[in-house]
Amino acid sequence: MTAHKQGSPSAHDGKTGITRRELLVNVLVGLTFLGPLATVVYSAVRYLIPPAQGIKGAAEHLQVALVSDLTAGQSKDFLYNDAPYALLRVGEEFRAFSKICTHLGCVVQWKADDQTFRCPCHAAVFDANGAVISGPAPRPLPRLKVEVSAGKVYVSG
Ligand code: FES
Repeated sequence: MTAHKQGSPSAHDGKTGITRRELLVNVLVGLTFLGPLATVVYSAVRYLIPPAQGIKGAAEHLQVALVSDLTAGQSKDFLYNDAPYALLRVGEEFRAFSKICTHLGCVVQWKADDQTFRCPCHAAVFDANGAVISGPAPRPLPRLKVEVSAGKVYVSG
């Protein structure tokens, strides 16, 4: 003789031998672990397949420094389309690079002592051409065009 009515929360489903209440608890426990598992899987995928990066927005022509602001080997940070960039002086030449690491997007820092950009997150190292020297970064740092005119340094996308 069955103690439960058909349709009640604790009734057996008739096939597996578990009650509906047990089934509901199992589903809720499963869903509890699904969120953290999805987060771990997403993080792993983003680590292994970094997002594509490039220079966003219109090609704005922007004065970022005077030639006299920098001596050889120095850098100056600036924003371009709200993103962080660094202007380098290499000899008499000026170069401008995105400071967003091409691995997972941390902000790199210019180290004048060894003339490299270094990422604090996973130790990627880029040279004064923006090329990857070591670390997990898959691509060079994106670069802006630089023009010098009348003692002023301009960048554009
Ligand atoms: Fe991972 Fe820069 S974000 S090395």
